Amino acid sequence: MQTQNQKDLDKSPERVKRMFGSIAPCYDFLNHFLSFGVDSSWRRKAVKILVSEFAESGGIGALLDVCCGTGDLIREFVRANKLPCEFCGIDFSDAMIDLARKKLPSISNKLVVGDAMELPFYDGAFGLVSCAFGLRNICNTECGLREMIRVCKSGGVVATLEFAMPQNQLIKYPYKLYFKYILPRIGELLTWNKNGAYNYLHQSVINFDNPKTISEKMQQLGLNEIKIIPMTFGIANLIYGKKIFDKLSNTNSPNNFLAVNRSNILSNKK
Ligand SMILES: C[S@@+](CC[C@H](N)C(=O)[O-])C[C@H]1O[C@@H](n2cnc3c(N)ncnc32)[C@H](O)[C@@H]1O
Repeated sequence: MQTQNQKDLDKSPERVKRMFGSIAPCYDFLNHFLSFGVDSSWRRKAVKILVSEFAESGGIGALLDVCCGTGDLIREFVRANKLPCEFCGIDFSDAMIDLARKKLPSISNKLVVGDAMELPFYDGAFGLVSCAFGLRNICNTECGLREMIRVCKSGGVVATLEFAMPQNQLIKYPYKLYFKYILPRIGELLTWNKNGAYNYLHQSVINFDNPKTISEKMQQLGLNEIKIIPMTFGIANLIYGKKIFDKLSNTNSPNNFLAVNRSNILSNKK
């Protein structure tokens, strides 16, 4: 029989989609409220670092934010106004994408509903592929990473911003107390206990790969020059690397056949 923790950790796409769909209306508010506004500063910092990676190359062509949710990371890229490029986002929750389209009306037709494990884009279509707090939610991490790397061009960057448990002893225990007991209760209260989303948050973080393991997976899948940038004592970590040579393209990638005409996808207006 499944324990409550196992139930909370269920990452089946149907469950994850339903869960984010149900909390979508209060997702932004709760993110900022429960993190005391720090989540925005993590995204801003990540954007600053990633933008600086392209300072010398002059441009990236197109950016894809995977698991873009309500579009907060893309909005930070747009606000930074340092990357003259096409911005695209994908998420499998219609409710999250609807909110992202309202937040970013000028690119609403480039915010599409789709699965991170079968990205509907050509190999090497993007110069920068990002994913903020999404990788942990994808039911098969390797498959999600492989897809992100596949659609990134050679010389491009693949980046994830993800939670981890802090290692500093002074921070670790108070944070655990807050994250395990206080945050889920507040989340439940404010969302009327929808689908155990905030118990899932805790379970999914403590059971997910640590930043070093993620970086090792990235390397195995074809990224180089991998960097791990801890933020707020390692509660969030930016992990990114460059696709120097194309390990995956023109191979028999199981998803190659899914590559569809990008202009069709990008004009897939609601
Ligand atoms: C914690 S939210 C992060 C949203 C946003 N990136 C942010 O920074 O706030 C995780 C998102 O991942 C999406 N997601 C999870 N698995 C997915 C998959 N296989 N394909 C597409 N989106 C997925 C969920 O719908 C949800 O919107």
